[in-house]
Amino acid sequence: MADLAIIVLAAGKGTRMKSALPKVLHKIAGRSLLAHVLFAIKALAPSKTVIVAGPDMEAVGAEAKAVIPGAAIVLQEKRLGTANAVAVAKAALGGFCGTVLVLYADAPLIQTQTVTALAAKVSAGTPLAILGFEAENPHGYGRVLRKAGGAVTAIREELDASPKERSITLCNSGIMAVSSALLWRLLPRIGKANAKGEYYLTDLIALVVKEGAKVGLATCPESEVRGVNDRVQLAAAEADFQAHLRRQHMLNGVSLKSPETVFFSADTIVGRDVEIEPHVVFGPGVTIADNAEILAFSHIEGATIGRGARIGPYARLRPGAEIGAHAHIGNFVEVKKARIGEGAKANHLTYIGDATVGADSNIGAGTITCNYDGYEKHLTEIGKNVFVGSNTAFVAPVKVNDGANIAAGSVITRDVPTDALAIARPELHIHDGWAARYRDIKKARKANKTSG
Ligand code: UD1
Ligand code: CA
Repeated sequence: MADLAIIVLAAGKGTRMKSALPKVLHKIAGRSLLAHVLFAIKALAPSKTVIVAGPDMEAVGAEAKAVIPGAAIVLQEKRLGTANAVAVAKAALGGFCGTVLVLYADAPLIQTQTVTALAAKVSAGTPLAILGFEAENPHGYGRVLRKAGGAVTAIREELDASPKERSITLCNSGIMAVSSALLWRLLPRIGKANAKGEYYLTDLIALVVKEGAKVGLATCPESEVRGVNDRVQLAAAEADFQAHLRRQHMLNGVSLKSPETVFFSADTIVGRDVEIEPHVVFGPGVTIADNAEILAFSHIEGATIGRGARIGPYARLRPGAEIGAHAHIGNFVEVKKARIGEGAKANHLTYIGDATVGADSNIGAGTITCNYDGYEKHLTEIGKNVFVGSNTAFVAPVKVNDGANIAAGSVITRDVPTDALAIARPELHIHDGWAARYRDIKKARKANKTSG
């Protein structure tokens, strides 16, 4: 295959999203539309990648560089159309000679192998290839026009199409592969005599055909190339991608009891024989080792879960939670930026933040690490084999050494030595017969009132 360069168009304002955020930074499965496209093309190892961004879109450039550090970001000052956006990218490609792939950042679910197959269609006799798809509802897409024999003749945008052309269901995905020589020669000939008054990149197809060259056509399922222009389409793309992720995880050996209620991030890594119960949500940055169990209604992000650990039901793991092998994190337990040792247990109603808990320690119900003093965060260090009674507050910074026992209801403000008992609670007073006397007084008063 010829040398590859890639141009990703991301300068559109995304007016139909009705959002302060640039459209391509909206997310599907915890990853921006732009990053989805960039991950797909990164695997092709292009010699150049250029992102076309709009004015006031510094965040778009930063997002692109986070995925492909060597990417060039160019600015399209005025949104004059997709052909103009490609022209703006030319300088950044330098003297590149080979196949140029153009992708739109608002069609995020494209797969690497589909793009590879498209690029492979470009040859001496076929200097341009487009990726089409059969749309269930073609409304809004450019239609692929063909001759009786099937040869592609043009792409017609919806607004410029005749009623007959609008009935065509073969649509343009927006992704094309084109020889650089041809692209730079024909691009300046594209005009803007169309309904929108924009320079349409899609007009390139008719120009190529006019020159007597052939236009290649590759196709893919609609779910890979759904364009995202508004939030309804964003939700449709999310649904498609979640279905894809669930299927992938199940095929890799993960059990999902009710797949349609589990939401993954694009980067969720799940080991074999992991069981995930219904209604679990994974934010970005989660890795789960083999044989772990994630019980119903848990929310997990930025967390690492060890082999055979049990999480939930109703657990919340926040960024920096590292749960050791065979540890248990139970109902209404929140863990943030904390390492929980192998076999340790925090089964009920607990907050563990900015902390370390050693192996086999037991954290009782209602234990809280008081990690924040209103200004700074502080660390709670709990050793191995520590027993923490219910309703304990650790006022950080504080350290509990191995084997210590913390009595229920304690507020721990100083370090606890190895194997010591720490007890910090008000003295208990017992008054024999007090409750009976109190009851008698109250009853007598009530009787007086009703008779008087
Ligand atoms: C475009 C295609 C249409 C195709 C559809 C697939 C054209 C003229 N039409 O229509 O055939 O069926 O995508 O989803 O190409 N952009 C810029 N600068 C501009 C204009 C657009 O960078 O001046 C970027 C946008 O950010 C977007 C992409 O190009 O990522 C496509 O633009 P958009 O306006 O969304 O085109 P569609 O109307 O969806
Ligand atoms: Ca679009």
